Amino acid sequence: MRMALEEWIGKGSVGIIGILLGAFLPIVWCFCMSRRIPKGVPPGSLGWPILGETLDFLACRRTGGVASFFQLRRKKHGEIFKTHIFFCPTIVIAGPEGQKMGLSDGYNSVEAGNFETLKDLFGRNSLFSVTSEQHKRMKRAILGSLQGKALRDRVQRVEKLTLDALKNWEGKEVIVLKETSQLTHNVILNLLLSMEAGQEAAQLRERFLLYSLGGKSLPIKLPGAPFYKALQARRELLKVVRGIIEQRKRSGKYYNDVLQSMLQIQESSNGLSEDEIVENIILLMFGGTDTTSTAITRIIEFLAENPDELTLLQEEHDRVGRNLQADQPLTWDVIKSMSYTYKVISEGLRLSRIADALPRTAVKDLHIQGYKIPKGWRIFVDKEATEFNPQIFDEPLRFKPSRFENPLPPLTFIPFGGGPRMCPGMELATLQIAIFLHHFVRKYRWRVKENLNELDFTRIVPQPKNGLPIFVELR
Ligand code: HEM
Repeated sequence: MRMALEEWIGKGSVGIIGILLGAFLPIVWCFCMSRRIPKGVPPGSLGWPILGETLDFLACRRTGGVASFFQLRRKKHGEIFKTHIFFCPTIVIAGPEGQKMGLSDGYNSVEAGNFETLKDLFGRNSLFSVTSEQHKRMKRAILGSLQGKALRDRVQRVEKLTLDALKNWEGKEVIVLKETSQLTHNVILNLLLSMEAGQEAAQLRERFLLYSLGGKSLPIKLPGAPFYKALQARRELLKVVRGIIEQRKRSGKYYNDVLQSMLQIQESSNGLSEDEIVENIILLMFGGTDTTSTAITRIIEFLAENPDELTLLQEEHDRVGRNLQADQPLTWDVIKSMSYTYKVISEGLRLSRIADALPRTAVKDLHIQGYKIPKGWRIFVDKEATEFNPQIFDEPLRFKPSRFENPLPPLTFIPFGGGPRMCPGMELATLQIAIFLHHFVRKYRWRVKENLNELDFTRIVPQPKNGLPIFVELR
């Protein structure tokens, strides 16, 4: 046998193969041990050595999104299944029970998804990367400046920026996603840093666009690669925020914005460090731009396709408008009274697939429906499977805001996630969308020039590929 082999590939090569096998066998053995499947885990496939099913997962992002990867496996293996993506054994869970396990119980059962390359992009000192007590302290500080009274006091700033933007839409063809992305960016810059439109904001926007592309690119840290450029842009953004902090400390001037609230907290004993402040400001900038603009774009699309729902929405806003004097600004209470608008927003968020799956890591062995999720394994809460489940949402593909008239069963609808990692921008996002819809549907009518037919799933937030071109005129 050995001689036949030697004849076939040459004498020296057999020795080399022997050495290679000797060197690699222990590695292969260690690897196989690490892939030993603990008893009781759900059915499913761990795919190829090392890569697992990562290539299939990435390929799906080019077609039907993460949901299509999950759907295919759910059909084969059932509601709970295992896979292996991004070098980590992973369990995908869905339904109210899955959402309860993945998102509640504080930090005792699960922690953040733990993606190393995204930590580089979103900051190792930001909410995205930190865990347990550090996360709790940071989140409390951030929520204090983005919710309740702090947000209530900023309603008029959001409204003014919305009106300024909409003026430029009149009588024109606009790409909704492009315009709303600029608007949400202006709003977030204003709320975070009191930055007004101008040269500084425009420069920041350019850097931000480069930075946000990092979320959709391969994590290659070589000069010229989009991910490398995104990290460079991030460093520049951090520098700008540090500059603003320095300037504020020198001048002692007070600003009514999120940065100021964070700086005040910094002075208290339980406060945030400067690194934590700047990294979270950039994270909030990222979190607050594409999400809200995509939601507004998709809602405009759904309303155009459903004229009856648009009429109901217009009736609500005409009613609200009649009770206000000309040019009287909206108040928090008036916005909160727009009950049909909130149903439209909920249904828009359900259908827009902004965050289809929420990643977590099991911090201890967990058990669900008779299966085990071993400590250290990654979990994906497939929120879209629940939001498109016909047993929970009848005719799930239809835009039907009235389905939110009656309360839904608990843990069936979580557009902003849940538990300690729930979105801190939830109130701001809904407020911003409500203000936008009030002025948009009340003053304008629009014609969609080209329907949205495809979503770009390669982005962190799946967005319409054509951006939704519409023609806008006064009603
Ligand atoms: C329609 C708009 C938005 C949607 C649908 C949305 C959705 C989400 C979801 C699903 C999560 C993950 C929650 C989880 O894992 O349980 C999240 C996290 C987050 N969002 Fe939003 N979001 C929106 C707007 C915003 C805004 C306006 C901001 C900033 C002001 C923001 C900042 C963040 C941050 C910083 C996190 C990470 C929270 C943490 O790790 O503790 N989001 N968002």
